[in-house]
Amino acid sequence: MAQIRVHNTNERIEVEDQVVDFLEKQEILYEHWDADKLSEELKEKYALSDEEKQQILATYDSEIKDLAVRRGYKIWDVITLSEATPNLDELLQKFEAVHTHSEDEIRAITAGKGIFIIKGTDDTGYFDVELEAGDVISVPELKPHFFTLMDNRKIVAVRLFIETEGWVASPYNDPEFVKTNA
Ligand SMILES: [Fe+2]
Repeated sequence: MAQIRVHNTNERIEVEDQVVDFLEKQEILYEHWDADKLSEELKEKYALSDEEKQQILATYDSEIKDLAVRRGYKIWDVITLSEATPNLDELLQKFEAVHTHSEDEIRAITAGKGIFIIKGTDDTGYFDVELEAGDVISVPELKPHFFTLMDNRKIVAVRLFIETEGWVASPYNDPEFVKTNA
């Protein structure tokens, strides 16, 4: 279950209905997949072979196809980040910059944890969405955001794309954004 932290007020939202409400008001798609569909082995595996990635995609085939039909995604893959990822710190440093995309950024977490930092409406400002296995989130196109890991520093997620040629992040320089520790 996702949890929210609003940067300006340090308010935390942890009750499911309130989290869903908050994200709906921010026009962020938030759904759930059954994290228990994944085999026990894959629930705790972060260095994945191509075969294991295919296994994850096969496990969630109906959920992926459902999103693809509803929202126009054409391709999907599995990404993983953990201490086993070469240059993890460098990679995270690159990630931690506010940016936008011309299409939405959808992630379905299948193992581990992750966090989206998102610029909300003017009255809300920046907020964190802390995600765990089973959480599915889509940051809308052109909404400033970035993604990073949480303290456990490991995640596996399914990504879906509309644009088959791959997309480019546009930097978003925002004097309003103040980096804080969650
Ligand atoms: Fe992004």
